[in-house]
Amino acid sequence: MLHRRSGQESATLRLGHHRLRLRPWASETEIGLLILLTSGSAVSDAAVAASIESAAAQGYLRIRTSALSHIEAEPFLRAGFEPRQQLALLSRPIQPPLSERNGGVSIRRARRRDHNSVLDVDHAAFEPFWQLDTVGLHEALRATPFRRFRVARPDPDKAPAGYAISGRSGPSGYLQRLAISPRQQGQGAGTALVVDGLTWMARWGATQAWVNTPQQNTGALRLYERLGFEPVPPGLQVLELEISGL
Ligand SMILES: CC(C)(COP(=O)(O)OP(=O)(O)OC[C@H]1O[C@@H](n2cnc3c(N)ncnc32)[C@H](O)[C@@H]1OP(=O)(O)O)[C@@H](O)C(=O)NCCC(=O)NCCS
Repeated sequence: MLHRRSGQESATLRLGHHRLRLRPWASETEIGLLILLTSGSAVSDAAVAASIESAAAQGYLRIRTSALSHIEAEPFLRAGFEPRQQLALLSRPIQPPLSERNGGVSIRRARRRDHNSVLDVDHAAFEPFWQLDTVGLHEALRATPFRRFRVARPDPDKAPAGYAISGRSGPSGYLQRLAISPRQQGQGAGTALVVDGLTWMARWGATQAWVNTPQQNTGALRLYERLGFEPVPPGLQVLELEISGL
């Protein structure tokens, strides 16, 4: 039985004990982004079929998933979804006190009025596939019970150089999002924001930190590995299904 609760442009699909959100992918409204809200376990084949049916009924031509673990991906692959992007998953233990330092970069809490500049930084730093829209920014902020949203190098007269969203859920800490404006990269702001997030996780008792990034994002991988993260194979994947081809 499919219960759909419509938001503005977003619908929550309740399928058995699984919850998925379906919403337009940024400005490409013919693509439906399907987000697993109950992560960690595979949804049923019936839930995947119902999600496809719902996306088709809403006029989407293609469905794209959020980043899935290989277990989460299985029922989608059985339904004909294909891998579109591979992400490296990395993790490191958090043992306070952290030895890493933020290098004296000034960091402050992100305010609501920073949201537009944060989205500008995000768009300048990421290729279109990975860029956040306003809805995506709010989703990143709501993804975990506790979050920390910081901007780097805030000069009162200048827009932020970069931003980071970190999250905590029980013993796990997540670096949800990190971007530095291209012209201000290579000056320590990315490192400072990651160290700030890890320090916050440590302070609240998280014991393991997690982050993912596209497999080809060598700059970010170098930064994370320099800060003690190690790859957790086989990583994550974003899948896609062409509905119009069914
Ligand atoms: C990945 C990213 C966040 C790194 O941010 P950054 O501010 O450039 O990172 P840092 O400056 O701290 O570190 C980058 C390099 O600059 C070097 N560096 C740091 N401070 C420096 C300084 N004061 N002078 C010279 N070099 C410096 C670091 O040693 C590092 O070198 P290496 O990684 O080549 O070994 C940034 O490149 C970015 O936004 N990329 C696009 C979006 C993205 O990939 N986000 C994260 C993945 S989801």
